[in-house]
Amino acid sequence: MHLADTWHQFHTQAITNKLPLFTHHNRLFDILYAQQFDQSTLSQLFTIADRIRAIAKTERGMRYLKELLNDKRAMLFFVQPSTRTFMSFLNACHILGIQTSEIRDASTSSEIKGESPEDSIRTFSSYVDLIITRHHDEGFAEKAAWVLNVQGKRKVPVINGGSGKDQHPTQALLDMYTINRAFKDHGAFSGKTYAMIGDLKRGRTVRSLTQLLALYKDVSFRFISPKEYTIGQDIQQFLNDRKIPFTLTDSLEKGIKGADAIYATRLQDEYDVNNESKHTDFSSFHLTEKHLPLLKEHCIIMHPFPRRNEISIEIDKDPRALYWKQARNGMWIRAALILYLFGREDRIALYT
Ligand code: CP
Repeated sequence: MHLADTWHQFHTQAITNKLPLFTHHNRLFDILYAQQFDQSTLSQLFTIADRIRAIAKTERGMRYLKELLNDKRAMLFFVQPSTRTFMSFLNACHILGIQTSEIRDASTSSEIKGESPEDSIRTFSSYVDLIITRHHDEGFAEKAAWVLNVQGKRKVPVINGGSGKDQHPTQALLDMYTINRAFKDHGAFSGKTYAMIGDLKRGRTVRSLTQLLALYKDVSFRFISPKEYTIGQDIQQFLNDRKIPFTLTDSLEKGIKGADAIYATRLQDEYDVNNESKHTDFSSFHLTEKHLPLLKEHCIIMHPFPRRNEISIEIDKDPRALYWKQARNGMWIRAALILYLFGREDRIALYT
């Protein structure tokens, strides 16, 4: 059978059958979609991340962490631009003692000589124990995992560090970890209203985060965007199927008033086909100091970054602004995820 056809069948089956091939011994193995996580795994990862960051506070602790995975090697295949995801995964690997190699520009790899992405992935797996990818194609990470699970002899786990307009599951993990820490004394995730702002049609972070927040009781959503950039029908269907209330609005003021969390995102104009987003004015979706009186006392303000003008820098000093914490939390939760994938999370409990 043709590879793409086979993969397509696999993809459909994976979605409908709860992704059985991406788990080994009832544990997550490849990290490809937000839908793979449940409440229990999230809670486990938050605990591991808290423990790693506590141990990392001392030199002795850092030396201990560095021994945990120093027999492993990881490959970062990041052919779509990234600062935070790349840097936080790289440093998460280094904290755990993992040696890393990277390709950040496909034109410096043998893809330029006509090698297929499938062959490239199998080649990487010959050298390393973990592959982390960032790619402009939706489904790239899933395809890589399929190639290694079905075709390859070496079953190396794949982590999706962002796949086109579709998913960014580890961004959603760090967002959830940040929200969990912020709302620890305010009832955690449940019963909250989440306001998502920006280019929601093409923003993968909101798509992944919404699917994780939807795991919790009595949540509701407000999707704030220009009409032509509203959240996808598939996410609306996902929420409808679960009877989770949501509204779509193009009024920033209406959307943020009384919300418990605000999640701003930028225009994803790298996906423009013909500069079409130039015709839409996004300035009325930018959060400035004048909006702060509309916010609840404990409302948190988030952004996956990079930002342009979505949140004015004057807001940075507001204690409710968490976006710099998000960036650092990304390193700890990604370290936790990697330790979990290699099944060595019990070792951090042994540290005294
Ligand atoms: N949030 C995020 O994915 O940032 P980078 O594109 O810089 O990795």
